[in-house]
Amino acid sequence: MNNKRENFGSRLALILAMAGSAIGLGNIWRFPYLVGQNGGAAFIIVYLVSCFVLVLPIFMAESIIGRRTRLSTFGAMKKLAPGTPWKWLGLLTVITPLLILGYYSVVGGWSIDYLWKACTLRLTHDTAGLFPIFISSTWEPLFAFTLFIVATAVIILLGVKNGIEKFTKFCMPTLFVLIVAIVIFGLTLPGSSEGVRYLVKPDFSKIDAGVVAAAMGQAFFSMSLGMGTILTYASYAPENENIMASGIGTTFADLGFALLAGFAVMPAVFSAGIQPGEGPGLVFDTLPYIFSQMPSWIGAIVSIVFFLTILMAALTSSISVLEVGVAYLVEEKGIGRVKSTIIITLIGWVLGIFCSLSFGPLSGAKLFGLTIFDCMDKLCSDWLLPLGGLLFTLFVGWYMSKTDVRDEFTNHGTTNVGIFNVVYFLMRYLAPLGILVVFITNLVL
Ligand code: PFF
Repeated sequence: MNNKRENFGSRLALILAMAGSAIGLGNIWRFPYLVGQNGGAAFIIVYLVSCFVLVLPIFMAESIIGRRTRLSTFGAMKKLAPGTPWKWLGLLTVITPLLILGYYSVVGGWSIDYLWKACTLRLTHDTAGLFPIFISSTWEPLFAFTLFIVATAVIILLGVKNGIEKFTKFCMPTLFVLIVAIVIFGLTLPGSSEGVRYLVKPDFSKIDAGVVAAAMGQAFFSMSLGMGTILTYASYAPENENIMASGIGTTFADLGFALLAGFAVMPAVFSAGIQPGEGPGLVFDTLPYIFSQMPSWIGAIVSIVFFLTILMAALTSSISVLEVGVAYLVEEKGIGRVKSTIIITLIGWVLGIFCSLSFGPLSGAKLFGLTIFDCMDKLCSDWLLPLGGLLFTLFVGWYMSKTDVRDEFTNHGTTNVGIFNVVYFLMRYLAPLGILVVFITNLVL
């Protein structure tokens, strides 16, 4: 069965696909509002440190498992640790993507709806109340969410090379050009320098345990770690790929994009005199207000470009989430790719319906005071992704033999031998410790 497996055609294709998974709503929608809620530049610095100390070792751990076994998560665990409870980690990484697919696609649907609103010039005049009315309605967000999840499924149906590789190769450079265009535009707005200052001048007194936990959680979510996405993509890596190089490439791409998104959003927010700590509505609520204040033809162009960017970034991430479940059904249950895609999409769709309705008709249904959508978001980014990440690093750092890990890391002794010891140390000690900090802080706060 392994011989029939598709692989990415080149290193570039692998990095673009991994970066495509990493760069998404987490960068454009979540990162700017978290920066706004957690004190600006100080949060960004903690985030930068988290990316290299915490995220890169876990990224390497997932890459090592995926490339060594060339299997999806469940099969990989069974192969490397037969007859042990480690197979439950495989199962965890099948369940988490299903939950993420549901609620992530709801926000993906918002970006489709807002792109449509931008194209029909709905964002060039009074947008007051538009967002709350939209998300609390029943059918419009449901329809947009369904379109989004079906689009994700269609790309996955085309396969690893023809679907994921072709789509990400087209989208990633385009995304970069689009976001740079928005940043340049944002910087020309009057008063935008205040927003730039907010992003580059750290106030270290703002850093507390909550800020550190938020930065670490965001780093996890943003780098698609802890649920086997990177593991699955690494299992399609070309034979002699230097996995450290693809890890560093993906981390820089993701970080760079998050910072660009910050510079695309904050200067405009400050220029309009809006509070940066607005929360999740920052991008969908606040930016349309700013677009509506511009001369209408400029507002029209900028809003179309902006929501197109969000939509493309969201799709290159959602396909990676769907692929994890599909790869599991194809490899472990012997179900065909088409049927597997339909099954996982349907489960994600049913879950997503509840998430979408939780902003409107189901807004009263709460668990621990949280709506269904918030519950899913919190459960995944604060608990399940860090838990998956913790188990992956413990597995590679403590269960696998150092010889095997070094062999895979260094491409059988041909590359990166020097840096191996540093990454191995981070994988064994610092990364697990960092995740424990996230857990304890989340429990206490
Ligand atoms: N990294 C994606 C983003 O930043 O939008 C979201 C995501 C994709 C999270 C895949 C987890 C995942 F496995």
